[in-house]
Amino acid sequence: MKVICTEKSQVLATHIARALKTTVVSVGYSRFPDGEHYLVTGETDDEMVIVGSVVDNDSLVQLMLLADACDRSTNHLVLPYMAYARQDKRFRPGEPISSRVVAKALSTGVSDVTTVNIHEKEVLKSFTVPAQNLSLAAGIGSYIKTLGLKKPLILAPDEGAMHFAENVASTGGWECDHLEKTRLSGVEVKMAPRQLSAKSRSVVIVDDIISTGGTIATAAGMLYQQGAKDVYAACVHGVFTGGAYARLMATGIRDVVCSDTIERSCSRISAAEEIARAVRQR
Ligand code: R5P
Repeated sequence: MKVICTEKSQVLATHIARALKTTVVSVGYSRFPDGEHYLVTGETDDEMVIVGSVVDNDSLVQLMLLADACDRSTNHLVLPYMAYARQDKRFRPGEPISSRVVAKALSTGVSDVTTVNIHEKEVLKSFTVPAQNLSLAAGIGSYIKTLGLKKPLILAPDEGAMHFAENVASTGGWECDHLEKTRLSGVEVKMAPRQLSAKSRSVVIVDDIISTGGTIATAAGMLYQQGAKDVYAACVHGVFTGGAYARLMATGIRDVVCSDTIERSCSRISAAEEIARAVRQR
């Protein structure tokens, strides 16, 4: 078994390879003069682990080309982050179900797929090969332990993220709640934990994705107004569009971290061990 990866998932792929006690196959990436992608792989194995987060359209094309380049192997596809997964329905007539399009495209040439905290588990059904989803709740819990906080309150930004937050909280036996929005007037919205008070407490907001950072920035501001001692944020996928990380830090959040499903300088939680364990069982 060997590992191969797209350009933007090199660090995670290397850590997965180490955990699997194997190597990463080298890939030469370049472009044709018209901008089309070209790649050529080094020596592949009968069994390959193809690692690549779909973080942009280039990564998507590189993944499809890698699967084809490894077409004489059994290919296990690892999709740590899958862009387009949030467009999992036709919200308006005329829209595509983008998650389905990507899932179908990436099922070609692979024997199975492993995702990590995919936005909606229903998306797994759109792959035409067996697909499993892993959770990094335990990894986020381990990171929170390193902060040395006294009885932190683990908060989900909304009810939908509560299950994930509960799994994180259970790793440390911490209290958990989710934020609730109350409309005070036409322009004023209040966000507060549904049941517990944040006053004088260290709060860690956990979510699957931080994209614009809008959800967490608003929540952090309100939590400080309610007397929170300090606020932290941890997510699996640090998308951080349009200056989101800087905007979040400007709210007074003590720290914002993510995992290496998208490789960032604030990737302080690794999905490598979890992925290696799951691949070994394939
Ligand atoms: C939503 O369903 C997700 O779990 C995240 O809460 C959302 O994607 C975060 O978006 P943003 O960072 O843009 O507020």
